[in-house]
Parts: sequence; structure tokens; C-alpha cells
Amino acid sequence: MVAGCRRLDGGSDRRERRRLTPFGWASADAEQRRRRLRPQLADGKAVLMRSWTVGIFLIVVLLVADGCRDRSTEYRPTATVRDIMISMVDPSADTLWESVATIISPTGTEERAPRTDEEWATVRRSAVQLVEATNLLLMRDRRVAKPGDQPEDSQVELAPEQIERIINEDRAAWEKFARGLYDAALPAFKAIEAKNVQGLFDAGEKIDEACESCHQNYWYPPPTSGAWRK
Ligand code: HEC
Repeated sequence: MVAGCRRLDGGSDRRERRRLTPFGWASADAEQRRRRLRPQLADGKAVLMRSWTVGIFLIVVLLVADGCRDRSTEYRPTATVRDIMISMVDPSADTLWESVATIISPTGTEERAPRTDEEWATVRRSAVQLVEATNLLLMRDRRVAKPGDQPEDSQVELAPEQIERIINEDRAAWEKFARGLYDAALPAFKAIEAKNVQGLFDAGEKIDEACESCHQNYWYPPPTSGAWRK
């Protein structure tokens, strides 16, 4: 580094590099030489000082690194599972399902499919939402619904507290269902990237199965399911 500095100022203005030392004016060169020599002349105390300095420096580095780690991995789940279903999963899946269809009406048959760049961009936005929503479902500490929220039909649907209980009893199973939706939604995303209408249509069916299998396990399990126990 010192050599680098010397090269930079090219030794042009020597007066600039002279400075007052307790021993009078010294050239910067002499001063730098002294500084470089000092470690070799150091007594035990100076060595001790340095190891203290290094130790404190390391502690600071570790604390800073730890602080960074905490900030970058600490998620703050805010919405409930119900919110994510209503705001992201359901509308994005609907857009994908409705994007490819054969609509028969008295006036004729419409083969609906994305055609323009804009239409492809619309379905792509939905696929991005659906694929990434599955990652949000994987986050821990996310409530199923707001405290006090009730099922619409308590004969058919489990209460949010019951759903939370079965999720927490077997987290791996919940993660499997969330990843199942990811695996079903990814082919839709890839089909859209390739502007493949048939691929998008086929993915739609798999997505539907992924929704249903999770719902049957957690939301409206069959009456015989152990999930209904109080
Ligand atoms: C990993 C599990 C899981 C997957 C996969 C899943 N859901 Fe859900 N969904 C739930 C749970 C749990 C609830 C019940 C939450 C509650 O108590 O309201 C729910 C509730 C819903 C609701 C009702 C929200 C309301 O008004 O109360 C809709 C709509 C919904 N899901 C749509 C979908 C669609 C569409 C898909 C597939 C594209 C899907 N879900 C995939 C777990 C899942």
C-alpha cells in the first residue's frame, strides 16, 4: 500500500512529503521506513496491545456479521393464510384457468387463449404470483386466519385454530402440500415463457388438484378425518 502511494505521487513534490516530527523535519520516506521497522522492534507490551486490538476487531466483525445475518433472514409474516388465498393464490389461479378455454355459446364457439404480447404478459404476472405465493405459505409463524375469524360453514370447514393445530402437528405435511402447488404452478410458468397454449391448459388441471388436495387435508376434510377431533 505504501509503495502504491509512493508510485501515485511519483515523488514529484518532495516538500509536501516532509513533516515535523519530535526530532525536527523528516522526509516522509524516513518516516515510513520507521513505521515499517517498528513491528520488528516491538517489545512484549506492544505485541500484547496488538493482539487485543485484533481481538476487539474480530469481535466487532462477528457482531456486525451477526447483525446482518439476522436482518437478512428474519421474515415478518403479516398476512394470514386466508389473506394469501384471497389476495394472491385464488385470483392468480383464476386468471390462469380462464386464460385457455373453449367457450360455446348460441353465437358460436370461442377458442380462448393468450395471443398478444399483452395477454401473455397478463398470464405471466399471475403465474409469478402463484408460484411465489407457495413460498409465502412455507414461512413459519403465519396465522391461518385473524383471531376470531370463523369458518363460513362449521359443518364442512375446520375452524382456523383447528387448521393451525394440524399444521403445527406435522409441519412437513403442510410443506409438502405447499410445494405440491409450487410443482403444479411451475409448468404453467414455463409454458407461458414458451408461449405454449396446450402446456398452459394442461398445467391448469394439475394446479386444481394441488389446491384440492391441500384443502381436503386442512380446510374441509372428510367427516371421518381425525382432523375434526376437538
Ligand atoms: C398448502 C395448502 C393449500 C394450498 C396448496 C391451497 N390452499 Fe387454499 N386454503 C388453504 C387453507 C388452510 C385454507 C383455509 C383458511 C381459512 O381458514 O380461511 C384455504 C382457503 C382458501 C380459500 C378461502 C378463503 C376464504 O375466503 O376463507 C380460497 C378461495 C382458496 N383457499 C383458494 C385456493 C386455490 C385456488 C388454490 C390453488 C391454486 C389453493 N387455495 C391452494 C390451504 C391451501
